[in-house]
Amino acid sequence: MSDSEDIYMQEFDVSYRFPVYFTRGVFDPENTVLHDCMSSFSNGVVRKILVYVDDGVCKAIPGIGDSIRNYLESFSDSFELANEPEEVPGGERTKNGWNVVRNIMSSMGEGHLCRHSFILAIGGGSVLDMVGFAASLVHRGVRVIRIPTSVLAQGDGGVGVKTGMDEHGQKNFVGTFAPPVAVINDFDFLKTLDDEYWIGGLSEAFKVAIIKDPEFFDLLCDKAGELKARDDEVIEDVVRRAAILHLDHIRNSGDPFEFGTARPLDFGHWAAHKLEIMSNYRLNHGLAVAIGIALDSYYAFRKGFLTEAELDRILSAFQDAGLPIWDKVLNSKTESGELVVLKGLEDFREHLGGMLTVTLPDGIGKKIEIHEIDVGIVAEAIKYLGERISRR
Ligand SMILES: NC(=O)c1ccc[n+]([C@@H]2O[C@H](COP(=O)([O-])OP(=O)(O)OC[C@H]3O[C@@H](n4cnc5c(N)ncnc54)[C@H](O)[C@@H]3O)[C@@H](O)[C@H]2O)c1
Ligand SMILES: [Zn+2]
Repeated sequence: MSDSEDIYMQEFDVSYRFPVYFTRGVFDPENTVLHDCMSSFSNGVVRKILVYVDDGVCKAIPGIGDSIRNYLESFSDSFELANEPEEVPGGERTKNGWNVVRNIMSSMGEGHLCRHSFILAIGGGSVLDMVGFAASLVHRGVRVIRIPTSVLAQGDGGVGVKTGMDEHGQKNFVGTFAPPVAVINDFDFLKTLDDEYWIGGLSEAFKVAIIKDPEFFDLLCDKAGELKARDDEVIEDVVRRAAILHLDHIRNSGDPFEFGTARPLDFGHWAAHKLEIMSNYRLNHGLAVAIGIALDSYYAFRKGFLTEAELDRILSAFQDAGLPIWDKVLNSKTESGELVVLKGLEDFREHLGGMLTVTLPDGIGKKIEIHEIDVGIVAEAIKYLGERISRR
């Protein structure tokens, strides 16, 4: 017998299952969604719950802390509020380094939470990423119910399985795979969101539509003007469809925790992550993704994966919806004359590991993976998109 035969193989699966609710007025005493959701986890034992709220939401909805407290007190027979709802700095700045994570972890400790306690995380994608990250570390994982409050978080980040923090000069350099136990998308929150985030969040809906769902893409093109005008009914349909496409992809892709090198949901993201940093976060994630999709769509056209008419539909819809397709930072060059944005390709490859894998549309509604990028075509795309916006 050789040494290599002395193996005892370990193998097991862990399955995840979580509901995504769609509602309005989640903290209205008449609304039973959160109550029903939490009751489904209670088994006669009183559990602790701690609430974290995005400070942008607190500012936009004064009194939300009282509404949350009143709502939760009404079922104190099964849940005990471990402390007052706590404000977390909102926006990308919250993801910058360890301070916010450490504060959140400390308050979880002070509230004496255990692995059977619950966290209610209410906010945009940045706050959900940070609270989720902290919760995934404390006791190796405290249960999180997410209540996303932005277009992007309701249709994409908030229904996903990842957390993230910006570190080492890179977006989401640190983070964990940590699915929530439930998600509640409350459309009422979208009313108070700033335009740049409301419209910016549409880019992730376009992203999944372009590579997965031609009918959804048609709808987004038809309704681009209404979306720019912040039509309540249209956005509800768009958020719901985007969320379901993301959920279905994560469930059916066979790679929910991204062990492979491909990440189709990151179409347009190699440039986007770099553009956020290059612009010092003047371009928020959603806006940067729109520019990243515009670049990669032009690339797909030049490689023969999209027709000129398909490229034009994408870019026109973006412009009609108020999404950017170009920004002056795209022209930034290194001392040796190389486009700075191209460094995003190496960061992207390193983050996923293995071979560079960039997802492009292959017609509308399908995708293709490529492993090499011709930097000359990227430079051409930047020029083309810059000229296109100056023509409007
Ligand atoms: N974990 C994931 O899978 C995943 C996926 C996609 C994106 N993300 C991350 O999500 C982040 C972007 O999220 P975002 O677009 O929600 O922006 P954001 O979380 O940065 O929030 C944007 C701004 O809006 C405010 N805000 C949020 N909701 C509000 C409301 N209802 N009313 C008023 N103000 C409100 C916030 O305080 C903040 O100032 C990025 O960091 C991105 O990397 C994560
Ligand atoms: Zn994204």
